[in-house]
Amino acid sequence: MSGNGQDLEDSLQRALDATVEDGESDLENRLRPARLSEFIGQPRVREQLDLVLQGALRRGRPPDHVLLSGPPGLGKTSLAMIIGTELGSAVRITSGPALERAGDLAAMLSNLLEGDVLFIDEIHRMARPAEEMLYLAMEDFRVDVVVGKGPGATSIPLDVAPFTLVGATTRAGALTGPLRDRFGFTGHMEFYEPSDLEHVVARSARILDVDLRPDGGREIAGRSRGTPRIANRLLRRVRDYAEVRADGAVTQEVARAALAVYDVDELGLDRLDRAVLAALVRSFGGGPVGVSTLAVAVGEEPGTVEEVCEPYLVRAGMLARTPRGRVATPLAWRHLGQEPPADRPEEDRGQGTLFT
Ligand SMILES: Nc1ncnc2c1ncn2[C@@H]1O[C@H](COP(=O)(O)OP(=O)(O)O)[C@@H](O)[C@H]1O
Ligand SMILES: [Mg+2]
Repeated sequence: MSGNGQDLEDSLQRALDATVEDGESDLENRLRPARLSEFIGQPRVREQLDLVLQGALRRGRPPDHVLLSGPPGLGKTSLAMIIGTELGSAVRITSGPALERAGDLAAMLSNLLEGDVLFIDEIHRMARPAEEMLYLAMEDFRVDVVVGKGPGATSIPLDVAPFTLVGATTRAGALTGPLRDRFGFTGHMEFYEPSDLEHVVARSARILDVDLRPDGGREIAGRSRGTPRIANRLLRRVRDYAEVRADGAVTQEVARAALAVYDVDELGLDRLDRAVLAALVRSFGGGPVGVSTLAVAVGEEPGTVEEVCEPYLVRAGMLARTPRGRVATPLAWRHLGQEPPADRPEEDRGQGTLFT
């Protein structure tokens, strides 16, 4: 049995290693809102989550499992940490890709204390055996650990302390039905309004001690793709520019000049966004074209194009997902300085989406 204990320890270490943070993550942690009341924007998710947490605190029981879905940088990890803080619970962190084997997950689960929050980032990338183990843990707070291989293998049931799972995903659609059904609450994160992003940038400027003027904050917010992480990143780049090329104050003029240097356009589209639109318009005549073909054309993974680029391009009204593939809207053509063709069939004009 001691060998088995060592396996569990090794698995736990592997699961933890995968969450080691790099330089940007350190900064990100400093800028993270700590309480729900500090969390800017997302009024719907915030209100819903507040009710879930208040209800649980009243009953003195861990709340239902929570799934947070939405594009990168909208505050899923921040909310997971906030859930822990609001509940006064420890948060154990891992991610789908780190849970390669069911044993990796068993190690995490067996180390939980009652009321802990287990945060699994990118939960849609968890391996299938781990996912099946997770169903049971979520529902019955127990796991069956298989020890040994082949005909001699035995299954040992282990109790798991009642915990709350918080899963985050950029692709809610990639979760299997049984997993999705076991979450009591799903928060759908939306892109932020520019006015909310102005607050995010102003708050970060205070924390980082940047001399941000209101018109500078507005300019940065308007070019941040509706995404707080990008707003914070642009703020840091603009600050560099303000300190090196100006007197340190971030005004609208300074922000505009700085963002031109960093290739962020007036709509906040970055290089990859523009590459996708340019390929769609110039190589494929505006589409329709499949997402994999489009991804090859810009040298990216289809998943990145689909989960990182497309949600914002769709929201900005530049790209449509039609049953026959991706289509550039007239707005996209004009954004690239070209006239949209007039003679396209109705269904390919990018009006409808897959979901209407
Ligand atoms: N609602 C918010 N209010 C203030 N800052 C936020 C908010 N959401 C995100 N941020 C900032 O954006 C950064 C990225 O958020 P994060 O929670 O890591 O996003 P995700 O996990 O969805 O990719 C955080 O470090 C934080 O500084
Ligand atoms: Mg995250």
